[in-house]
Amino acid sequence: MFASMQIARAGTPERLSLDPGWLFLQGDVPLPSIKGQGASYMTTKAGEAPGPAGADYDDSTWRHVDLPHDWAVEGPFDPDQNRAQGYRPRGIGWYRRYLTLPVTDRGRNIELQLDGIATHSTVWVNGIVVNRNWSGYNGRNIDITPYLRYGKEVNTIAVRVDAEVMEGWWYEGAGMYRHTWLVKRDAVHIATDGIHANPVQKNGRWTLPVTVQVDSSAAAARDATLDVILVAPDGRAVARATAPVHVDALHSASARLDLAVRNPQPWTLDKPALYRVHAVLRDAKGEIDSAETHTGFRTFRFDADRGFFLNGQPTKLQGVAIHQDHAGVGVAVPDSIWEYRMRQLKSMGVNAIRFAHNAPAAEVMDLADRLGILVMDENRNFNTSPDYMQQLTWLVRRDRNRPSVVLWSIFNEEPLQGTEVGYEMARRMVAAIRELDPTRPVTAAMHGGLFSDKGAVQALDVAGINYQVWEYEHFHKTYPDKPVFSSEDTSAFMSRGAYKTDVAKHVVASYDDDAADWGQTQRGSWKHITDHPFMAGGFAWTGLDYRGEPTPHEWPSASSFFGIMDLCAFPKNAYWFRQALWIKDKPVVKLMPHWNWPGQEGRPVKVRVATNAPHVRLLLNGAVVGEQDVAPFDMATFDVPYAPGRLEVVASRNGKEVGRDAVETSGAPARVVLTPDRSALLGDGADAVPVTVSVVDAQGRPVADANLHVRFDTDGAGRIIGVGNGDPNSHEPDKASERSLYNGLAQVIVQGRRGAHGKLVLRARADGLQPAEVLLAVRDAGALAVVPEAQPIVRPGTWRSSPPQSERPDPNVALADNDMNSWAWGDPPLGMAPGAKRWRAFRVSFPLRADHNDGRAHVVLREIAGKAEVWLDGVKLGDKTSFAPGPLVLPVPHGPGWRTLTVLVEAEPGKPSGLLGDVLIERGTP
Ligand code: GAL
Repeated sequence: MFASMQIARAGTPERLSLDPGWLFLQGDVPLPSIKGQGASYMTTKAGEAPGPAGADYDDSTWRHVDLPHDWAVEGPFDPDQNRAQGYRPRGIGWYRRYLTLPVTDRGRNIELQLDGIATHSTVWVNGIVVNRNWSGYNGRNIDITPYLRYGKEVNTIAVRVDAEVMEGWWYEGAGMYRHTWLVKRDAVHIATDGIHANPVQKNGRWTLPVTVQVDSSAAAARDATLDVILVAPDGRAVARATAPVHVDALHSASARLDLAVRNPQPWTLDKPALYRVHAVLRDAKGEIDSAETHTGFRTFRFDADRGFFLNGQPTKLQGVAIHQDHAGVGVAVPDSIWEYRMRQLKSMGVNAIRFAHNAPAAEVMDLADRLGILVMDENRNFNTSPDYMQQLTWLVRRDRNRPSVVLWSIFNEEPLQGTEVGYEMARRMVAAIRELDPTRPVTAAMHGGLFSDKGAVQALDVAGINYQVWEYEHFHKTYPDKPVFSSEDTSAFMSRGAYKTDVAKHVVASYDDDAADWGQTQRGSWKHITDHPFMAGGFAWTGLDYRGEPTPHEWPSASSFFGIMDLCAFPKNAYWFRQALWIKDKPVVKLMPHWNWPGQEGRPVKVRVATNAPHVRLLLNGAVVGEQDVAPFDMATFDVPYAPGRLEVVASRNGKEVGRDAVETSGAPARVVLTPDRSALLGDGADAVPVTVSVVDAQGRPVADANLHVRFDTDGAGRIIGVGNGDPNSHEPDKASERSLYNGLAQVIVQGRRGAHGKLVLRARADGLQPAEVLLAVRDAGALAVVPEAQPIVRPGTWRSSPPQSERPDPNVALADNDMNSWAWGDPPLGMAPGAKRWRAFRVSFPLRADHNDGRAHVVLREIAGKAEVWLDGVKLGDKTSFAPGPLVLPVPHGPGWRTLTVLVEAEPGKPSGLLGDVLIERGTP
């Protein structure tokens, strides 16, 4: 979040958000097919990328967007679109961003960081292609230093995103859906992800070996000193080391330092102590760069017989797999919404997450470190060719200091897994990981090939089995020395808040009785794992619903039913079963279903209690209606003849009450209730708060089966960025100011406006109900470390200059299309050597933006030395009649598209002349 960033002092590195202020066009821009020699010649030149990739493209009608942005979530549901991608069109889109750089940045190193773009992307800076990337899940750090312009000149970043292509069989979104940054550092600087600091324990003693990569874009070799300080969670510097670095121009060097650390606070699941590794680079003149990473002191091991150990303690991996989209926002999930999702998971008893089947954003990994959640860090593409190996090494370099990461996963369910080819590929990927991080085991999620003579499993340190619970023992017997865990299981179904399965309406009751043919219920899958002590734990598919891959129902269902929570991260009953299975140190008692069954009086209603207590007693309106010892995995189920009122469960251990829960019949909805997850947020254009929408009856009791329509509006320092309700069958738009409740709940996500502070008022209205209003405090985020938005300027570029001539040249003389050499190339200043041939023609062709061609723009020639005539598209615009150097400003007549400007200059005899200043087309009156 912006708040955690600091505005840099002069000389210190700056990491500036580039998220605000992009222009966006949904769709592709077909380029005319090029046939001519001149055009063919030009489009192959650096800086001359055609169309929207180019610096001077007319984007005046494009839409303004701030990143992160997912255009797929804005689109309609359509049965003709891909089911796997959630029946929403993806397609192609373009983004452009303008920025200026102060002249004091000249000589610094400038890196463009694009953290995630779905799916294939190409990036241009000032018309030069600087990056191509074929994964939507890895970031790229692009050194753009050589291509930049400073001072008044405007730089253009253009990004073409192809989201027709897929990398997964789930909803992947479309566009620049993660953060973007501009990083300014000294020419000699610490490389991005260049600090490797992963603590090692030997004979009970901790050391922190630190390797720092220093890169240089300087013009000459330089010497510097690297200082590394380890800062404890309480802010004390607890270890320090220094090393010299010599780095040659345009090279990298690395320094290795060893820090001894006495009795560090351990990183545990309950108290995830994070240490900061602060590296400072100095030369004779002082500090030139600094960078920071964090790490944690913990040990872990996978044991083939006894499973997983964290800090010496046996710890089963109580894991979930999750994808990355959320209600209302698609894959463009604000960091604060990620925090909400991960807190919800943590309080369910989750101690491990498998980000399936790809790397999440860095901010999400930071949350895992900070909240104390272990991570199975998964690579997307099983491929050992150079582009793909780069995706893998990027992931390991980014995440190898993180205490949360305990497994690298190289693939999920690859058909080649049990073949020699699979083995050869896995072996190479394992070796590449080992080179960068020798401390963590490598695994893969397999659903076959486990027992072939040669397959990926032979190359892996730890085996992951997906679903096939009957193979657990077989595997352990076959590979008694290889640790194993359930990399994926469960795939159970539930519709949140629903208690009657209705196949025709695509509704699945929430008692934990339904799973895919290949899966198990929440309770069943965990039983298989706990029944096998050698199993290190498991990852339930999935912690949260996700769009796409709608299972078990297809259209009109558009998202999965697998989630332990729904798309809004509202708990389904699966959540309470998992709590009852996973949480040991406090009582869990959850009674289901709700108690609104009008018309069912006297008929049996299935009641289930999710609990970790050994005994439960059920009371209806005060009278005991059932009592049971709880079976540890099945839990307790009753048939209770329905009567309206209050159904209560009392859980006990050894006759002593340990907890209770109740459901109560409600009346008709009377009032809307808004419950924000937090009462304050930052006015930084990023921080977002989920607000739960519900309704209560006249007595204030929640109406659990309400499905009514609610309308929202806001006032003040923020806005709504999305809505949802967790119904996998809903086709209501995510970007809206209204939503229906689904079984009693909906969600509105509000965001503080950038630069705003004060109050954000959210109101909710439903027909015939008392409305709700909630007030959130929007806090001043202070000076934001953001790259200011710049306006495009029209500076016609790529001029041609005629040879000097003794006579006035014809301003409209045509150059042959294939003549690349009789007129010289170059941009102003364009001087003329004093001599006998006093005339010269200068010419440029350029596309004129629509917002500059309305007849009110001017061509501004800042300095012409000599007399001059200015011609546009064959028509004379005006003259400069004196030889004395000076400017010339002339109106540009209206006209769309490409324009050709020709300037004839007549030199003053014996004096240096020419087109000596900038030539710009400026809007309005000069
Ligand atoms: C697995 C796969 C997941 C998801 C799941 C649905 O085979 O790894 O990505 O498709 O099935 O049950």
